Amino acid sequence: MSSLRYLLYFAFLVQYIVSARTWHNTGNGTIIFEEAWTIPELIFQTPDNVAALGGTNAELKANLIDVHNQRLDFMNQNNVDFMVLSCAEPCIQGFSDPVQAANLAVEVNNQLAQLISNNTDRFGGFASLAMHNATIAATELKRAVTELGFLGALLNDYQQSGPDNETLLFYDQPEYDVFWQTVTDLDVPIYFHPRSNIAQITSLLYQHSSFLLGPAQQYAVTLSTHILGLCTNGVFDRFPKLKVIVGHLGERIPSDFFRIDEQLRRQIQNGMPMLRNASSYWQTNLFETTSGNFATPLLKFHVDQIGIDRILFSVDYPYVSIAEGATWVDSLVDVLDEKDLHSLRRGLAIKLLRLDE
Ligand SMILES: *[C@@H]1O[C@H](CO)[C@@H](O)[C@H](O)[C@H]1NC(C)=O
Ligand SMILES: *[C@@H]1O[C@H](CO)[C@@H](O)[C@H](O)[C@H]1NC(C)=O
Ligand SMILES: *[C@@H]1O[C@H](CO)[C@@H](O)[C@H](O)[C@H]1NC(C)=O
Ligand SMILES: *[C@@H]1O[C@H](CO)[C@@H](O)[C@H](O)[C@H]1NC(C)=O
Ligand SMILES: *[C@@H]1O[C@H](CO)[C@@H](O)[C@H](O)[C@H]1NC(C)=O
Repeated sequence: MSSLRYLLYFAFLVQYIVSARTWHNTGNGTIIFEEAWTIPELIFQTPDNVAALGGTNAELKANLIDVHNQRLDFMNQNNVDFMVLSCAEPCIQGFSDPVQAANLAVEVNNQLAQLISNNTDRFGGFASLAMHNATIAATELKRAVTELGFLGALLNDYQQSGPDNETLLFYDQPEYDVFWQTVTDLDVPIYFHPRSNIAQITSLLYQHSSFLLGPAQQYAVTLSTHILGLCTNGVFDRFPKLKVIVGHLGERIPSDFFRIDEQLRRQIQNGMPMLRNASSYWQTNLFETTSGNFATPLLKFHVDQIGIDRILFSVDYPYVSIAEGATWVDSLVDVLDEKDLHSLRRGLAIKLLRLDE
C-alpha cells in the first residue's frame, strides 16, 4: 500500500516536471502577467469594494477563482496567447504566522501547478512565497521553478508578521541576500505587486479619506517606497543580474527621476549604500508593465524615460477588463512602430520570462 502511494506521488511529480516550460511559440497574440487568481480558501482576502465598473463583487470573486472558463474565453476573444497567474493580494504576505504562511505558500503553488498543468501553452505561474525567512522563501522558489515549472514569483509588497500583525518585513535588508542570490542563480524575475495595508497603517494614514485606499493612491505610495528601498539599500549593486518587474507603469517612480536622483545624491555622505543614481536601475534591473494604466501619453513619456525595452503589456485581470487592455494595446499601432509594438505585446515577455527556453 505504501509503495503504491509512493508510486502515485512520483507520477504526480512527473506530471509537474513534464509540465514545466513546455510552451510553444506559435501564435502572435499578447502575453500578460499581472493577472490575479486565488484559491477558494483565500477569497475572504478580497474586499467587497474592488469590482470593475459595471461588474459585481460576486463576478469578481468568481473570476478570481476561475482558470479554464470565462478567463480563457476572455483571452480567446481578445487575442491573448499566454497568461501568467499569481495569487491575488495580499495572499501569503497577509499571514503573520511564519509556519502557517510557509505551508500555505506550498499549498497555493501546488494547486496552481495542478490547475494549469493541462494547458501550459496558455497558462503559466508565478510562485507565492512566505517571506518571513529568506532561506525558506528561496527553497520554495527553487522548488516552484525547477519542479513546478513556474516562471518566477510575485510578491505582494511587504510581509506582515508578529503577534499583532504589525511588524512589516521589507526585502531590501541584508538578511534577504540569500533569497536574491537564489533568484539570480535561477535567473527568474520577481514581480512586485501592491498590497492592502495592515489595519494600523490604514487607520493612521487613510482614515481621513478612505477612498484613496487601493489603486488610486495607496498602492503606488506603499510599493514605490519598497522599490526605492531595494535601490537605496544597494540590492541591485550586490545582485547586478537581478530582474524586478513593477506594474501600473512603474508605480509612478519614472515620473520623478529628476527629483529622486538629485535628492538621493545628498544621501551619499550619510552612508547610503546605493552606488548609482536610482533612475539608472531602470536600465539594468527594473522593468515595468502597463497593467491597469492604459494611458497613451504616459506610455510615450515612459518610452522616453526608460526605453521601450523595459516596458511590457499586462492587464491586471480580473480587476481590469482584458477587452479594455486589448483595445488599448491595439490602438498603439498609431504610436509605436511594428517592432516596438511587437516587443511590448509579447516579444520582451518571451525573453524576460524565458518562455522560449
Ligand atoms: C483542463 O482541465 C480543466 C479542469 O478539468 C478543464 O476544464 C479544461 O477544459 C482542461 N483544458 C484542456 C486544454 O484540456
Ligand atoms: C530560517 O530557516 C532556516 C531553515 O529552516 C533556519 O536554519 C534558520 O535558522 C531560519 N532563520 C531564522 C532567522 O529564523
Ligand atoms: C492578525 O491577522 C490574523 C490573520 O489575518 C487575524 O486572524 C488576527 O485577528 C490578526 N490579529 C490582530 C491582533 O489583528
Ligand atoms: C547621476 O546623475 C548625474 C546627473 O545626470 C550625473 O552627473 C552623475 O554622474 C550620476 N551619478 C552616477 C553615480 O551615475
Ligand atoms: C508577429 O507580429 C510581428 C509584428 O507585427 C511580425 O513581424 C511577425 O512576422 C509576426 N509573426 C507571426 C508568426 O505572425
